[in-house]
This record gives sequence, C-alpha cells and structure tokens, in this order.
Amino acid sequence: MVILPSSEKTTIFTVLFSLIFVNLIGIVSAWQLHLYRRKSFQDLSKRQELQTELEQYTKNLESIVAERIEELKAAEQLTAIGTTAGMVGHDIRNPLTTMTASIYLSKKKLEELSNDKIKETLRKNFEVIEEQVKYINKIVSDLKDYSRPLHPFIQEIETYALLKEALDSVKIPDNVEVDLHIDERLIKLKTDAGYVKRILINLLSNSVQAMPRGGKITLEAIADGNKVRLNVKDTGQGIPDDVKTKLFKPLITTKAKGQGLGLVVVKRLVEALGGTVTFESEVGRGTKFTVDLPA
Ligand SMILES: Nc1ncnc2c1ncn2[C@@H]1O[C@H](COP(=O)(O)OP(=O)(O)O)[C@@H](O)[C@H]1O
Ligand SMILES: [Mg+2]
Repeated sequence: MVILPSSEKTTIFTVLFSLIFVNLIGIVSAWQLHLYRRKSFQDLSKRQELQTELEQYTKNLESIVAERIEELKAAEQLTAIGTTAGMVGHDIRNPLTTMTASIYLSKKKLEELSNDKIKETLRKNFEVIEEQVKYINKIVSDLKDYSRPLHPFIQEIETYALLKEALDSVKIPDNVEVDLHIDERLIKLKTDAGYVKRILINLLSNSVQAMPRGGKITLEAIADGNKVRLNVKDTGQGIPDDVKTKLFKPLITTKAKGQGLGLVVVKRLVEALGGTVTFESEVGRGTKFTVDLPA
C-alpha cells in the first residue's frame, strides 16, 4: 500500500473535486439547454398556432365583409327593381284596361255579323288577344305586388267561388286535368280574397308551365286545426336542387319567357296574411306547394 504525502492527497482531492464540479456544471447546463430548447419549440408551435388562427380569422372576416357587400348590393338592386316595377306596372295597367274593355265591346259587336266564317275567325283572334292581355296583366300584377306596401283586407268569402275564380283566371290546356277538393268544414274562409286569388294564380300558372306534355293539377283546401291549408300539386317536371335553394328570391327563373317574380310575390302575399309557404318537389315526378294561412 502506497502512502501519499498529505500535500499530494490534497492535490488529488482538489482535482477530483474539480472534475466532479465541472461535470455537474456540464450536466446542469445541458439540462438547462434542453429545457430552453423545449420551451423554444413550444413557443414556436404556439406562435405557428396563433398565426394559423389569425389567418383563419382574417379569412373569415374577409368572407363576412364580402357577404355583407353582396347583401347590400342585392338590397340596393331590389329597391331599384321595386321602384321601377311599381312605375312600369302602373303605366302598363291603364292601356291594358282600355284594351280589355275594347275587346269586350268588339266581341259583343261580333255577334251582329252575318258571315259565320268571319265571325269564327274573329272570335278566335279575340281569344288570342285576350290570352295575351291576361299574360301581360299577370306580369303587371306581379310587378305591382312585388313593390307595393301590403295591407290585407280580411273578410268572409265563399271558398269554392274563390278557388274557381283563380282556376278560371289561368289558361288550363286540354291535356291538363284539374282536381278540386274543398274540405266540407271550409265552406267559408276568412281572408283577403284578392291576395289568395293572386297566390293561387301564380302557383297554378307555374304548375301548368311545368307540364308541357300534360298532367294533373290538384287544388285542395283543407281545414287543419287553427290553420287553413291550400295545396297546389302537379305532376310536372319538378324543381332541380340548385333551383330549390333560391326559389323565393327575385328574378330566379328557368323559363325563356319567365320573370322570376311569381314565387317572390306568393311569399310576400302569404306572409302579409300571417301564413307560410313551403314546397316539396321531385324532378320528373312533380311539385306540391303548401300555403298555410291562419283560419
Ligand atoms: N310547379 C313547379 N314545377 C316546376 N318548377 C317550378 C314550379 N314552380 C316554380 N318552379 C320553378 O321556379 C322558378 C321561379 O318561378 P316564378 O317565381 O313563378 O318565376 P317564373 O314563373 O317567371 O319563372 C321557375 O322558373 C321554375 O324553374
Ligand atoms: Mg311563375
């Protein structure tokens, strides 16, 4: 066994102690570095997360602003359409009234003619003119109903007479069958007859136009608790999904000669009566519009 002098012992001890001390410092530093890296990494991912959130938020904000601008534009456009519609409607109505009166008088005079062939030809021509006048009248009515303030006048009316009047106002082709059902509890209705007639004329016209090769229209009035339900059902071409979503918006039409105001007017009049309008439709099978009105 080697016995070291005490001065060497002290040196070795000092060296050992220094080594341990340096190692300890190394370990602590490495640990601190690890902690620092972990924190930096966490900070970085947190920052990235925040940045993504911010980008998402900005994108949302942009789309909200774009949406609001579109809504504002649409509202301005609607006001302009409304004002023009009111003016045009008013100006066309007067000559139409004169034309209707003239046709009525001419048809009466027609009976005095002795030549049956000419009589028949003229009668057919007058019918064509009458049809066209009716057609323009419907456009004018839609334009006016779209723009005028609505104040319904509620009174008791005969349901059958009202539904029949609506049916008689629409030209039903020979290849279209009409079924009319009126609930026996609904002999009379309390509503604005003019509004309901306009609603039905618009729905019936659409049904006729949806059946160019013929079919069947069912018009029903059903008592349903404290509601009156009017159904207009057809076996026509149905409404495609992309049209369904915007059906009650103005100027939406799939017809070459359509105005896209009919259903907007229906909704406006139904709501003015405190009711709702809904529909079910299947392409190739047909469409059913349901108007629920307070009884
Ligand atoms: N009964 C129906 N059957 C099929 N499509 C319909 C029916 N009613 C409405 N539509 C669709 O809704 C659109 C809008 O109708 P409407 O507002 O009356 O305007 P318009 O008749 O002038 O086109 C129509 O162009 C048509 O595509
Ligand atoms: Mg229409």
